[in-house]
Amino acid sequence: MRSTASQCLSGTDIGGSHSNPASAALLLLLCLGFPSSVASCPPPCICASDIVSCSGRSLSMLPFDLPRYATRLDLSHNNLSALPPDWVPRPFERLATLVLSRNSLSRIEVNAFAVTPHLLHLDLSSNQLAVLNLSTFTGLKELEELLLFDNQIVQINPGTFRDLHSLQKLYLSGNRLATFPLGIYWEPGGPHNLTFLDLSHNRLSEVPVQSLLSLPHQDGIYLQENPLVCDCALLALLEFWMWKQYHPVMDFKGETPCRSDSRQGPVCSQQGALDMPLVTKTYQEEPGKTFRVPCPGLASSTQEGQMVFWVTPRFVVNSSTNDPDSRLRVLPNGTLEIQGALVEDTGTYGCVAARQRLYESYESVEVTVVVGNFSTASTGGSPHRSSAEHFNTAFTTLASCVISIILVLLYLYLTPCRCRERSGGCGGRAIVLCSDPREVESGQRRSNGKRVAFLEPQAEGSDIGSPKTPAMNLGHVITEGILKNGSRKVGQTLTDPVHMA
Ligand SMILES: *[C@@H]1O[C@H](CO)[C@@H](O)[C@H](O)[C@H]1NC(C)=O
Ligand SMILES: *[C@@H]1O[C@H](CO)[C@@H](O)[C@H](O)[C@H]1NC(C)=O
Ligand SMILES: *[C@@H]1O[C@H](CO)[C@@H](O)[C@H](O)[C@H]1NC(C)=O
Ligand SMILES: *[C@@H]1O[C@H](CO)[C@@H](O)[C@H](O)[C@H]1NC(C)=O
Ligand SMILES: *[C@@H]1O[C@H](CO)[C@@H](O)[C@H](O)[C@H]1NC(C)=O
Ligand SMILES: *[C@@H]1O[C@H](CO)[C@@H](O)[C@H](O)[C@H]1NC(C)=O
Repeated sequence: MRSTASQCLSGTDIGGSHSNPASAALLLLLCLGFPSSVASCPPPCICASDIVSCSGRSLSMLPFDLPRYATRLDLSHNNLSALPPDWVPRPFERLATLVLSRNSLSRIEVNAFAVTPHLLHLDLSSNQLAVLNLSTFTGLKELEELLLFDNQIVQINPGTFRDLHSLQKLYLSGNRLATFPLGIYWEPGGPHNLTFLDLSHNRLSEVPVQSLLSLPHQDGIYLQENPLVCDCALLALLEFWMWKQYHPVMDFKGETPCRSDSRQGPVCSQQGALDMPLVTKTYQEEPGKTFRVPCPGLASSTQEGQMVFWVTPRFVVNSSTNDPDSRLRVLPNGTLEIQGALVEDTGTYGCVAARQRLYESYESVEVTVVVGNFSTASTGGSPHRSSAEHFNTAFTTLASCVISIILVLLYLYLTPCRCRERSGGCGGRAIVLCSDPREVESGQRRSNGKRVAFLEPQAEGSDIGSPKTPAMNLGHVITEGILKNGSRKVGQTLTDPVHMA
């Protein structure tokens, strides 16, 4: 803008020499009123419509008259060392992507990003940033992606991310962080939608397992290439993430801590646990009751040092928590005890423990807990579940009977009856009927779990002229028999010559 202003001043000088005050005023008005529309691509940069690239120009100062219509500004591969608050004189209203990677930035002044309020992607990778301050990212309320990898970040001060409400992806790999920046998740106003956090290639020696297990988006936390100390808690977390097939542990299996040298690592599980299959079970209890849920795949007595976490719908509890007021507690053998069950306790519970084995795809470390008042829906005080079972059995029987009837009708209508051509040819016509394993009657034979009834050949000459009449009767009889007797007397009914006529 200063260069534009100086051009303007020289322009008015020329105008003044021609002694035309009107044209001078017009020129001045143009210069002052529409500087942005005049701003064209500055000399060190390359512009393509709304993209401005000033990459690799050894800039240590920013070109001042950057076009305001830019949506993408690339200042990478330069020699910028600081970002002052007035690095551009007027806000970029449309800028969505700002690339500042591969510079020497070590300082970002307060409100430096106030001029880019609608930024979505900010790339500050490969710089010299060491400490992130409360003021570093103020105003970036719409930012979705922040690249900070390959810096020297040792410290992230509280409140650094408090304005980044929309942040989804944060890359912090290749820095010098020694403690997990859990504040990112807990800070008020912070990035509650953060789904991706890359902390690989840092100096983390431990991670807050319990806190990570309670995060809604644990599936995007990258921890590979950190000098993590492998204990039973970390092993439990990593095994859980493996079982969940989370990308960070699946994609970097080789570099994930604990995995490669798990044989030399801690001994967390008993040998007996190896053979126990992990099956999904459902535990039902009435409200107010106290009950226990065993941890799938854990032996009855656990190894010294074993850590068991239970991820419940509302809390995460672990076996070293010793809070007597807590309704939920983990017994030393990993069993979860729920006291005074509430209906809200219903849900899926995961038992996170180091079992030191590989999980088959069908296995599950989760169980289902249902807390409800089952006495309401039942009759005569019997549990709801058994009446549901009765209903299910009855329904299954009815459905199989209906299918059988349809099959019988199809058979009778669609098969050309050989009785017409050859008398006695109808012998051996087989009909699949409803099965009832408890019943063995004459004239019936079990074949592949189905009961098969054989009809005796009819007397010669009978019903030859009207093959469909007995079929109709037969269908009617069977239907009637099934509906009345629940398939019990079907065999007898069919062999009864009176009904067949
Ligand atoms: C970058 O700036 C520093 C001083 O700020 C200077 O010494 C160095 O030569 C510059 N490097 C390049 C490549 O321009
Ligand atoms: C944060 O503040 C410290 C101390 O005031 C300063 O040295 C550092 O450069 C600041 N960080 C950034 C990214 O500006
Ligand atoms: C978080 O994401 C959800 C779904 O993508 C969205 O509806 C919500 O507005 C987001 N919240 C913030 C603070 O961006
Ligand atoms: C277990 O739970 C307690 C209390 O909630 C917590 O202080 C502790 O850090 C947890 N242990 C681990 C290894 O996460
Ligand atoms: C765990 O311990 C409790 C109490 O000591 C016991 O009732 C329960 O049966 C044990 N669970 C298993 C799976 O051994
Ligand atoms: C369960 O429902 C029955 C019938 O509505 C009621 O009498 C009983 O108090 C309920 N029990 C609980 C624990 O809510």
